[in-house]
Amino acid sequence: MANHEEQFRKLVSHAKEYGFIFPSSEIYDGLAAVYDYAEYGSELKKNIRDYWWKSMVQMHENIVGIDSAIFMHPTIWKASGHVDAFNDPMIDNKDSKKRYRADVLVEDYCAKIEAKVEKEVEKAAKRFGEAFDREQFVTTNARVVEYNKKIAEVMHRMNHDLEVNDLSDLKRLIEELEIACPVSGTKNWTDIRQFNLMFSTKVGSVSEDASTIYLRPETAQGIFVNFLNVQKTGRMKIPFGIAQTGKAFRNEIVARQFIFRMREFEQMEMQFFCAPGTEKEWFEYWKQERMRWHLDLGLPAGNYRFHDHEKLAHYANAATDIEYNFLFGFKELEGIHSRTDYDLSRHQEFSGKKLQYFDTERNESYVPYVIETSIGLDRMCLAVLCHAYTEEKLEDGSERVVMRIPAKIAPYKVAVLPLVRKDGMPEKAREILKSLQPLFMCQYEEKDTIGRRYRRQDAIGTPFCITVDTETLSEETVTVRERDTMQQERIAVKDLVSYIARRIA
Ligand code: GAP
Repeated sequence: MANHEEQFRKLVSHAKEYGFIFPSSEIYDGLAAVYDYAEYGSELKKNIRDYWWKSMVQMHENIVGIDSAIFMHPTIWKASGHVDAFNDPMIDNKDSKKRYRADVLVEDYCAKIEAKVEKEVEKAAKRFGEAFDREQFVTTNARVVEYNKKIAEVMHRMNHDLEVNDLSDLKRLIEELEIACPVSGTKNWTDIRQFNLMFSTKVGSVSEDASTIYLRPETAQGIFVNFLNVQKTGRMKIPFGIAQTGKAFRNEIVARQFIFRMREFEQMEMQFFCAPGTEKEWFEYWKQERMRWHLDLGLPAGNYRFHDHEKLAHYANAATDIEYNFLFGFKELEGIHSRTDYDLSRHQEFSGKKLQYFDTERNESYVPYVIETSIGLDRMCLAVLCHAYTEEKLEDGSERVVMRIPAKIAPYKVAVLPLVRKDGMPEKAREILKSLQPLFMCQYEEKDTIGRRYRRQDAIGTPFCITVDTETLSEETVTVRERDTMQQERIAVKDLVSYIARRIA
């Protein structure tokens, strides 16, 4: 764990030093839990967004995209339940005056036990070598079984308390577990209260007439309220989906772990409308599809797992999270929810407008059921960065930091580097650059030794470095150096486009 914490600290400073992510408003000492994407980070984010859009919209003839406004009619948030129930249980430590989410305190307690389990697993894996069977070990080792039992008991009690809103018992649980404030070290807690996460503002020019509106806390409602418009204009037949990416805002009590939990973040959501009674089938389908999307991206399969919800929201009849093993452990990356007909029915009720679909095959009208897939774009960026950040000792004794970002989402695909700044090499390199720029994000660099330039490209995750040398001038060939293996190949200039396209695909 300590090693991972250290690795995470290094990743955060690398992200800043190499132009991926900056703290927002840094010259004014920053703004908590708000970040700016820099020149490489914004490319990475755009590439992940495009990759999602392509696979969800472009590759599905029955899914279309929209881009709805952030400001929406305030009644929408009443209908969706956010005004009354989009709360987190908060608790203050009376000595440090620090505020925490009560459920996060309990989850952190469980994460510490989980870390102990992982330590036992690591030790056993070393002891048994190839013959080690993780599944068998965690179900039979007495200590690990005890640890897991404790986690299950604690989580079960907390989920129950949250479900029935028994905040007194949740406080008792925190006291029984002897959870102390990480800052003051004391267990001097206030009672737990609910805290609404929506940001509000006023719309209207004259203050007396202004009315309260909210910054949307999810993009999903923009899809629900446009369901009938899109169904009609797009002549969509059930089952069909509506996708959207965009900003969402939540006044998170505990904002931490870099871009994992932010107050302003971006979601990529898809609502899939289906006939009542078919939702379980579609839930399974989207569960598998979304996991396949993650695995196709090329991050290790062992870093993903499903976490089926024990506690279901009142409107859901199935829900699972896709969790990713970030450098601080397995945490939610994406949610897949079977939301029944709750949202459309509520909007029907609150707006007084029918939101029904006439199914010609069934010869009946109904409010469609919905399967939602919802992933945080920033969390996906963080998953990629956690995976990518690698420190390596090379054979010659030197060291390098390389960002092993999957080539298809890497910020820049190619760097074109003249070996020296003379003998016509810069001119030839720029000619090659011009031929590649329409197709790929390219960088051009001629300062510093070639070794230093390679290191810099490694640090921003550029998968291919093209070096222009004397042979380029005489033979029309270049060397292409691959980032991860550092292997070099000689390629004809005329074949560069197809070579890079093939390697990226
Ligand atoms: N429409 C459903 C919905 O919003 P959610 O589980 O609250 O569900 C979906 O959020 C995803 O949005 C999460 O899985 C996570 O990736 C991302 N997300 C939620 N809160 C976030 C935050 N404060 N910062 C960054 N990402 C967040």
